[in-house]
Amino acid sequence: MSETLLKVSNIETFYGPIQAIRGVSIEVKQGSIVTVLGANGAGKTTILRTISGVLDAERGEVSFQGQNIGGLTPDRVMRQGICHSPEGREIFPFLSVAENLMMGSFTRNDKDEIARDLEMCYGYFPRLKERAQQRAGQLSGGEQQMLAISRALMGQPKLLLLDEPSLGLSPILVTQIFEIVKRINRERGVAILLVEQNAHIALKTADYGYVLEVGRIVMEDRCAVLMEKDDIKEFYLGQKDSGARGHRRWKKKKLWR
Ligand SMILES: Nc1ncnc2c1ncn2[C@@H]1O[C@H](COP(=O)(O)OP(=O)(O)O)[C@@H](O)[C@H]1O
Ligand SMILES: [Mg+2]
Repeated sequence: MSETLLKVSNIETFYGPIQAIRGVSIEVKQGSIVTVLGANGAGKTTILRTISGVLDAERGEVSFQGQNIGGLTPDRVMRQGICHSPEGREIFPFLSVAENLMMGSFTRNDKDEIARDLEMCYGYFPRLKERAQQRAGQLSGGEQQMLAISRALMGQPKLLLLDEPSLGLSPILVTQIFEIVKRINRERGVAILLVEQNAHIALKTADYGYVLEVGRIVMEDRCAVLMEKDDIKEFYLGQKDSGARGHRRWKKKKLWR
């Protein structure tokens, strides 16, 4: 049994009077990839923001390596080893690609290792090396996503939070970027918490998954198991003739009789 790295217990998070998260518990084990699937507005981004300290949970607990990190500021959370690639990438458009990457290492002062990590990012994403001196705002959507992930890597994470890296990208690019995410996990031992609307790629990438609906976890299991569930097939993978629909049709027939 591998060790628990992140434990989110029964958190409730609000935006003013609006409750976005209604008692969510999530666990990420050392070195694993965990996904939270959910439609637009389900609360995925809010969960990541609560973990990274951008928002505070009203109730519940977030612990990392056995320590309570609830209430810490985002930079303190980052120093613990949790780095966030946010929704919409949030790169600095007027800074160069290289400068954006250096921003990701602002909590560190180990110069030599920072230089090595920069080369590591360029190794994973050679496009970024080619464009190192260009303004980040001139990058394509896919390249900006690569930059957002790399900037998070520059913080030397033990846990990487990825908010919808597939958003707005072509299927080929999505496949390429997720291949690299898997390599980062495998080669660097970085655990990953991935939130996604794209259930296809998320279930293929992660080991374990949670399904979030309107601020609540409604299902969780190993991804291999989730993939075979009729509800997941119909509502998240868009397989129209899945058993879920067949089952309802069958129930309807019974009612008519
Ligand atoms: N800044 C905000 N102020 C008020 N409500 C918000 C804000 N951000 C998100 N919400 C609401 O919180 C809920 C969850 O949003 P979010 O976490 O962004 O979902 P997701 O990332 O799954 O699309 C939604 O109902 C959304 O409208
Ligand atoms: Mg979101």
